[in-house]
Amino acid sequence: MQFKPFLLDAWLEQYEHVTEFNLAASTGPVWSVSDILALADHGTQHRFLNHELVYSRPAGADRLREAIAEMQQVQVEAVQIVAGASEALLVLMWLAAEPGANVILPQPGFTTFSALPESLGVETRFYRVRRENGFRIDPDEIKRLADSKTKLILLNSPHNPTGATIGDNEMEALHDFTAERGIQLVSDEVYHPIYHGNSTRSAARLPHATVIADLSKAFSIAGVRTGWMIEHDARRRQQYWTARAYFSISNTTIGEILSEIAIRKRETVLGKTQAAATRNLGLLERFMSDHRDVLGWISPQGGMTAFPWLVSGENARPFCQAATKHGILLAPGDCFDSPSHFRLGFAKVGDDFPRALDRFGTFVKSWSAKMVTA
Ligand SMILES: Cc1ncc(COP(=O)(O)O)c(C=O)c1O
Repeated sequence: MQFKPFLLDAWLEQYEHVTEFNLAASTGPVWSVSDILALADHGTQHRFLNHELVYSRPAGADRLREAIAEMQQVQVEAVQIVAGASEALLVLMWLAAEPGANVILPQPGFTTFSALPESLGVETRFYRVRRENGFRIDPDEIKRLADSKTKLILLNSPHNPTGATIGDNEMEALHDFTAERGIQLVSDEVYHPIYHGNSTRSAARLPHATVIADLSKAFSIAGVRTGWMIEHDARRRQQYWTARAYFSISNTTIGEILSEIAIRKRETVLGKTQAAATRNLGLLERFMSDHRDVLGWISPQGGMTAFPWLVSGENARPFCQAATKHGILLAPGDCFDSPSHFRLGFAKVGDDFPRALDRFGTFVKSWSAKMVTA
C-alpha cells in the first residue's frame, strides 16, 4: 500500500517558514498558550499547571467532552475526541474499507479525503464544486454518484478551498437520502461557524449524520491537535472508540485542558477569527475587483479561504512560485486538482493583511506586465 504525495503539505513545508506573508494557510489568527490560559479562571489555570501527565481516556477527557456536548447540543456520550479531524477521517475511511466499497467526495477537496481511501484500495467518486456553477455543492450530482456499494458520502461545509456552503434544507434532504440507503453521511465542519453570507446549522442535530470537527480552523488553535466526532449511533461509536484506542490511545492532557478552555470561551476565540475573516474579506473583495483583468474569483460564503484563478487559464504554480520571491505565500491549485486556481487564506495574517495585499498587488502588476511583454 502507498500514499499519493501530499502536494499541499509539501509546498507549505518548503515555504511556510521562510515567506513573509502566509496567504496559503486555512487557519485564523494565532494564539499562544498564555493567551488561552488568560481566558480561564484561577481554578482552571491551577488545574492546568498541576495536572498529571498521564494517558487521557480514549473517548476523551470528561470535561472536554462535556464542553463540546454543550456547544453542539448533543448528549455527552455522542462525543468522541480524536487527534484532529485528520484522525476522524482515518477512523472513518478505515471502517469504510470493505471489498468493493466506494466513497463519494468533493473535488476540489482536502487531500486526505481521497488519499486515505485510495491507499486502502477503496473506490473514490467525486462530485465537483465548479466555478462554472458558482461553487455550488449540488445534492443531485451527489445522489447520482451513489449506488448499493456506497459506504460513505462526505460533505465539507464551509468547503476547503472554495468557501462554498450547503444550505440546511439541502443537508437535510441528503441526510434522508443516505439514511434510507444505509449510507453514512459525514459532515466535515472544521470551518463552522465562520460565515460571510447566510449561516448554516451543524449536522449534529441530524440523527443519522456523523459530524467531524476540530479546534484547528474556526478556533485556530491547531497546536492542541483536538478534533472530535459526533455520532448518535452507539454501534458506530464503539467502533470509533476501538479504532482510536489502537491508533493513538488518547489525546494529550495538555491539549485537552487548553481545548476545554477555548470551547468554554468560544465567544472570544471564534469572535477573533470571525472579526479577522470579515475585515480581511472586505479588503480582498476590493483587491479582486482592482485586479480582475488578471484574477477571477467567487467570494466565499464561509471559512477563511478563497479559491481564485488566473483568467489566462494557465497553470498557477509558476505564479505562486514567483509570488514567494515577493514574500507572498499562496497555495497552488494543482494541490487541489485545479491547476489554474490558487488558494488564498485571508485570516491567518490578521492585522497584517493590508500590507500583504499591497505587496501581492505589486506582484500581480509585475506579473501581468511580464505576460504582456512576453
Ligand atoms: C476540510 C478539512 N478537514 C479536516 C482537516 C484536518 O485538520 P486537523 O487534523 O488539524 O483537525 C483539514 C485541514 O486542513 C481540512 O481542511
